[in-house]
Amino acid sequence: MYIGFDLGTSGVRALLVDDTGTPIGAADASYTVAHPHPGWSEQEPSDWIKACTAVMQTLRTDHAEAVTQVKGIGFSGHMHGATLINAQGDVLRPCILWNDTRAHAEAAALDADPQFRARTGNIVFPGFTAPKLVWVAAHEPDIFAQIDKVLLPKDYMNFWLTGRAISDMSDSAGTAWLDVGARDWSNDLLSASGLRHDQMPELFEGSDVVGTLTAQAAQALGLAHSVQVVAGGGDNAVAACGVGAMNEGDGFVSLGTSGVVLTARSGFAPMADSAVHSFCHAVPQQWYQMGVVLAATDAMNWLGNITGASPQELTEALGDTPQVPANLMFYPYLSGERTPHNDSAVRAGFVGLDIAHTRADMTRAVMEGVCFALRDSLEALRQTGAAPTRLLAIGGGTGSVHWVRMLASVLNLPLDLPQKGEFGAALGAARLAICGVTKAPPATIMTKPPVAQTIAPEPSLAKAYDAAYTRYRTSFPEFKALQ
Ligand code: XUL
Repeated sequence: MYIGFDLGTSGVRALLVDDTGTPIGAADASYTVAHPHPGWSEQEPSDWIKACTAVMQTLRTDHAEAVTQVKGIGFSGHMHGATLINAQGDVLRPCILWNDTRAHAEAAALDADPQFRARTGNIVFPGFTAPKLVWVAAHEPDIFAQIDKVLLPKDYMNFWLTGRAISDMSDSAGTAWLDVGARDWSNDLLSASGLRHDQMPELFEGSDVVGTLTAQAAQALGLAHSVQVVAGGGDNAVAACGVGAMNEGDGFVSLGTSGVVLTARSGFAPMADSAVHSFCHAVPQQWYQMGVVLAATDAMNWLGNITGASPQELTEALGDTPQVPANLMFYPYLSGERTPHNDSAVRAGFVGLDIAHTRADMTRAVMEGVCFALRDSLEALRQTGAAPTRLLAIGGGTGSVHWVRMLASVLNLPLDLPQKGEFGAALGAARLAICGVTKAPPATIMTKPPVAQTIAPEPSLAKAYDAAYTRYRTSFPEFKALQ
């Protein structure tokens, strides 16, 4: 038996699987995000420990016998967060999360130093870890002076589990301190951020075993001290392990809170200017690239809050069949945008509202806007040489058939909908644990889920959406100029 933990932004999921990776049971617990100032987004690392302890208690109650047979565990985590600990291992301040934009000026300053893009292959986005540390140095110098280690969220959990400060390549690639091609810390980038190599965790591949549980962690989780812990990975890389997106050409589009178009790459082919993220995969010798849309289902959540209807009610009111694009355009930049604009200040908007427009028209425009933003990411990925011919469609938004059909036509690619079941980051994390403990080659464990249905683009809609997408894309500068 193995357990994969998905340490997400709003909660943790623990998935118990057997030795073949087949799910046996799961448990979830939530925690909150604090926004003490506009643009700030923080979490208490102690809440992660409480939530992990709670999900383990549920698993122990529901699957008592199976839990005693657990041999290995692995974590997936939300990326880029800065968890700062002192020499005693105490947390110095709340973790500054991936969606915190306070360090936008610091990010722009680091990004203007050409060695960052050259070494990391990525723009220094405001959400990445390095600019956060430059912000802490300037605004909280007493805390900065005490930093012994900078840990990513799941690495803080690994530290709590094993007593070791370690990280994996996929998560570390999102710090802006990793030489992503060489899979090693860059001393030059660290010193350009005011940090030292000894303040970084030791690096491993995601499927490497990094230790066993400390007596304290074993007791808190109700697991044996001998349980082995793998390094794990950043959530998108680990989700890719969960759906078997491991090799060149494999990829997925995710309609989650944020939207992602991801393809696995067998080499490191960065193109920072495209605002595509080029990161190490969670398994050795592989990389992946993705475009990130900051508000995907979050845009529907926003419309739901505004209209007093649930996102499901809003999408169901449209029926299952998309129509030709609306003459109402929505730019979904409610929280700024990463790919392709790298603009944390841009905000969303409808263009072309008519007195006759209804809630349904606005719903359709929001869904189309998210699809166009994902098309932007796909086009950016294509510039790097990635050439997916089909994508797996995952994430909560795929519950709307209308939205998936619309997306297939906007991307003009067939989308495979997996059969219902587990195939997310928690499964990917459990699979990393299986590979680590059994030394099985990742390719044999990271298989693709069975496909329930393939949604093909509809040619006449694809043509109409192509024209609407071109309008969306080319009018962005005018839209931005209004803000
Ligand atoms: C990736 C990113 C998010 C977070 C939270 O670059 O910022 O996917 O990992 O899920």
